[in-house]
Amino acid sequence: MRALVWHGTQDIRCDTVPDPEIEHERDAIIKVTACAICGSDLHLYDHFMPGMKNGDIMGHETMGEVVEVGKGVNGALRKGERVVIPFTIICGECDQCKRGFFSVCERSNRNKHVASKAFGHTTAGLFGYTHLTGGYAGGQAEYLRVPFADKTHIKVPDSLTDEQVLFLSDILPTGWQAVVQCDIEPTDTVAIWGAGPVGQMAVRSAVLLGAKQVVCIDRVPERLDMARAGGAITIDFSQESVISRLNELTGGKGPEKCIDSVGMEAHATATIDSMYDRAKQAMMLETDRPHVLREMIYVCRPAGTISIPGVYGGLLDKIPFGALMNKGLTVRTGQTHVNRWTDDLVRRIDEGQLDPSFVITHRVGLEDGPEMYRTFRDKKDGCIKVVIRP
Ligand SMILES: NC(=O)c1ccc[n+]([C@@H]2O[C@H](COP(=O)([O-])OP(=O)(O)OC[C@H]3O[C@@H](n4cnc5c(N)ncnc54)[C@H](O)[C@@H]3O)[C@@H](O)[C@H]2O)c1
Ligand SMILES: [Zn+2]
Ligand SMILES: [Zn+2]
Repeated sequence: MRALVWHGTQDIRCDTVPDPEIEHERDAIIKVTACAICGSDLHLYDHFMPGMKNGDIMGHETMGEVVEVGKGVNGALRKGERVVIPFTIICGECDQCKRGFFSVCERSNRNKHVASKAFGHTTAGLFGYTHLTGGYAGGQAEYLRVPFADKTHIKVPDSLTDEQVLFLSDILPTGWQAVVQCDIEPTDTVAIWGAGPVGQMAVRSAVLLGAKQVVCIDRVPERLDMARAGGAITIDFSQESVISRLNELTGGKGPEKCIDSVGMEAHATATIDSMYDRAKQAMMLETDRPHVLREMIYVCRPAGTISIPGVYGGLLDKIPFGALMNKGLTVRTGQTHVNRWTDDLVRRIDEGQLDPSFVITHRVGLEDGPEMYRTFRDKKDGCIKVVIRP
């Protein structure tokens, strides 16, 4: 089959590779009808996230048709069924899965020992996302092997198109969880850093969940336009001070809820802290660039909440922990517990409350994938979200 394969920093190619096969009895094989490139894939493309190997198949936002099931799937999935595959692989039986904490499933990461060493405990296996999370082949391919397939799937109604449901795999529940974890009150101002696909879903979710005011921060004009169309007030951080504007919008008090949908590759306009991060990251003395985290802690209203869906990899420097502690801020974070939210989200899409397909700007075939990684990373050609049809 053909697949998008990682070969090193900024080197992704469309290669011919062996078709996946059933390896365990709870596996299924999916014929991929649509998949997408995520902002998290960019951390692998730029190689800021460790743990990739030459030859790894990319992709964790995938949907398609079941073409083969192992005998342990026991009727939970049948050939011909149409499913979206969550990026988190889940066993459905461990203590964490039983509590709905799917992204920290205790069983699905087959490289548990590596994750435990790095983080103190294992986290879930993820598709196409480094050997720290299991080294599983991803779904930017013609076929995908789904481990624990009896649990690792989302069934979707035939009345909804691929483009309406594909993002149930990741960015929609990610934006949603980021907002739900803020416990929105009708009096809240929610400030969302990053108007990428995750930020866009967070804007729509915060509006839907009844925040008084939603503010979105970025510097890419078409992304800010899209956030405004979703109901946000926008701040261009390359043109104005984020802190002054947020204070102005909240009568000097700061937003109650702050969401980081940027993550480890934050940009900033020549602030001292961002120059420090760039220098340290270049010398491999710091893994991440946490400019947004520092800004959020500084501007968040005391007793407010900081919600962090943005991905961080390792060790972060100069986090103003004194401000965080003395202001009594709550921090909520995590890879998304996808299946925890998807029944509700499928219903909301079906009822027309939400249509996540608004975010798609590019539709291509697999062979255009490598080029699209660059276009998406560089935010060229108005690119906000790429959908690939293998
Ligand atoms: N927690 C999860 O389960 C989960 C799931 C999906 C994605 N993510 C993460 O969410 C983050 C966003 O993903 P995406 O697909 O939207 O990516 P993206 O790269 O398209 O979007 C990031 C946006 O942040 C903006 N940005 C950069 N620096 C900024 C700053 N200082 N202030 C405000 N905005 C700034 C960029 O211009 C860009 O538009 C990534 O870190 C990704 O890894 C996490
Ligand atoms: Zn993702
Ligand atoms: Zn589990």
